[in-house]
Amino acid sequence: MLFFVDTANLDQIREAVELGVLDGVTTNPSLMAKEGITGEKNILRHYRAICELVGENRDVSAEVIATDYQGIVEEGKRLADLHENIVVKVPMIRDGIKAIAYFAEAGIRTNCTLVFSAGQALLAARAGATYVSPFIGRIDDIGWNGIRLIREINHLYLETGYETAILAASIRSPLHIVEAAKAGADAVTCPMSALLGLLNHPLTDIGLAKFLADHEKANKQA
Ligand code: G3P
Repeated sequence: MLFFVDTANLDQIREAVELGVLDGVTTNPSLMAKEGITGEKNILRHYRAICELVGENRDVSAEVIATDYQGIVEEGKRLADLHENIVVKVPMIRDGIKAIAYFAEAGIRTNCTLVFSAGQALLAARAGATYVSPFIGRIDDIGWNGIRLIREINHLYLETGYETAILAASIRSPLHIVEAAKAGADAVTCPMSALLGLLNHPLTDIGLAKFLADHEKANKQA
């Protein structure tokens, strides 16, 4: 399973790169706004900076703002031209699906975002999306079951033979990452807090303290 970070913050992306486990980055307009990146010129410059920071063969999802077919196609082409890492992130709307089909024909990779049902995931795959992003945390937030949706999409893709990768998004915790992997996600995109949360176990800390104390004691006696 691939590990992506869901942020537009360059320091966090650098931290993930340095950890040595990063496969890519996803962003969205809210995350770009959080970093204070405004205006198309600055937005494109920021995406290029992210691509250069993560290095070769790391996917960077950059989301279009346009919601009409022609606008999505034009904006998506500008994003794809920026860097070979770019995956054009397109919302699950009628014109978005149409644009995903166009991009698939043109050899431009896409991430279909804001997916909340198996039917949407099926349509995105039929249109030729490279990735589909079910938002599992937001589904859990309204009392439904995000992990169950990942399992259902995985089942459907196996049954139908679609090769679209399932990118579990809106991850809230380390447990979400583990459960998404078990449910068949091909990739997860998560905040750094959830990614770093995978490191933690009290028995690891207790065990390491004991190993170091025993080593210290034996070496003092020698
Ligand atoms: O980038 C898409 C998705 O991961 C958003 O997550 O936490 O805003 O629900 P969140």
